[in-house]
Amino acid sequence: MTLAAAHAAPLPGAPFVSYRDGRLMVEDVALSELARAHGTPLFVYSRAAILHALAAYQRGLAGREALICYSIKANSSLAILKLLADAGCGFDIVSGGELERALAVGAAPSKIIFSGIGKTRPEMLRALQAGVGCFNVESMAELDALNEVAQSCGQTAPVSIRVNPDVDAKTHPYISTGLKGNKFGIAHQDALAAYRRAASLPGLRVTGIDCHIGSQLTTPAPYLEAMERVLDLVAAIEAAGIPIGHIDFGGGLGIDYDGDAPPAADALWARLLARLDARGYGDRALMIEPGRSLLGNAGVCVTQVLYFKPGEQKNFCIVDAAMNDLPRPALYQAFHRIEPVQAAAPDTPATVYDVVGPVCESGDWLGRERALAVAAGDYLAVLSAGAYCMAMASNYNSRPRAAEVLVCGRDAQLIRRRETVQDLWRDERLPG
Ligand code: LLP
Repeated sequence: MTLAAAHAAPLPGAPFVSYRDGRLMVEDVALSELARAHGTPLFVYSRAAILHALAAYQRGLAGREALICYSIKANSSLAILKLLADAGCGFDIVSGGELERALAVGAAPSKIIFSGIGKTRPEMLRALQAGVGCFNVESMAELDALNEVAQSCGQTAPVSIRVNPDVDAKTHPYISTGLKGNKFGIAHQDALAAYRRAASLPGLRVTGIDCHIGSQLTTPAPYLEAMERVLDLVAAIEAAGIPIGHIDFGGGLGIDYDGDAPPAADALWARLLARLDARGYGDRALMIEPGRSLLGNAGVCVTQVLYFKPGEQKNFCIVDAAMNDLPRPALYQAFHRIEPVQAAAPDTPATVYDVVGPVCESGDWLGRERALAVAAGDYLAVLSAGAYCMAMASNYNSRPRAAEVLVCGRDAQLIRRRETVQDLWRDERLPG
């Protein structure tokens, strides 16, 4: 780290994003320079921040047989996947598309686990032929389908069953997955029967068990509760003569969006491992599927202020990024910090704005009631935008998707060029 960097104040939750001489930097690169060079909206990621977040998991799981399977859905850009594959990660995938992305960056197939409630038979076949490490199966019907597909190509599919531990993750209802009413996993009370069925099918080979209770969890309690419930099941399944080789605890660890204070990954795992050891399962191979906690605070989205619009009740600050680029506020009423890329002089008066995009929907807002001292043409940075932003971006309103840059120290590389309008209609045809 340079001397200047050492004196810079990192922003909350984002240790590699800081102001230096009033300029917002990602590592040693000024966001204003990137915005001028590549245009806006622009996603910028810090390589060091990603590796820093990964290191906390690696420390927490050191000395254990553990595989960190990055959950590709959080951010599926190839350069990000390559970085994580090179750092030793496996991958958690939920579609044939994510499988191809993982294979395209040279991921070891045996380190890929295939989750999701609706795998199609062609997806199963492709994954079997590629040699994925495990299928996380979520229903009886899926067990039967996978068995048939495996038998049709003369293979046995490695399976773990995703159990629903019925634990309240106390997160947003759309990202809570471990409660009885959710579509995910096999109910706790049905899990043993599902394992018996899996063990009886010739095309399947039981290798483990898995659970995932939700996303953006900010306390250890739901993890500990889920672990107790999963270990109770491991005991019952093994008593029925079916060995459980690995335990997959899913993803879900939250990040600091707005003063949230989730446990650090290493501290969380110290507690979980102590409990695992106490219950006599410390020797099991472990898997985890983190997504947001590796990428979320490693990325920002830079946007340019277009216009101000004073309203009767509100002032609007209209920017060039929108819900198609940053869907989380519209979908989950999510909060993302919004900071000026060039800090205002200390006594500049601020105005309270709703920061909104150009999309024709009232739900197209990025931040509400934000005090900002900005002028038209200035750049703003939407923070905590590394996970579930670009990956969920759409072309709504025929808006080409943003470009992406990966920063490493002073170096900044374009990892995705901005889409063009021609890209959008490339596959369309006018009837003859
Ligand atoms: N494993 C499974 C089976 C999952 O369903 C998920 C996320 C993960 C792992 C990774 O969870 P993470 O560590 O990222 O919390 N779009 C929403 C989040 C959806 C999460 C879906 N599943 C958002 O923007 O908040």
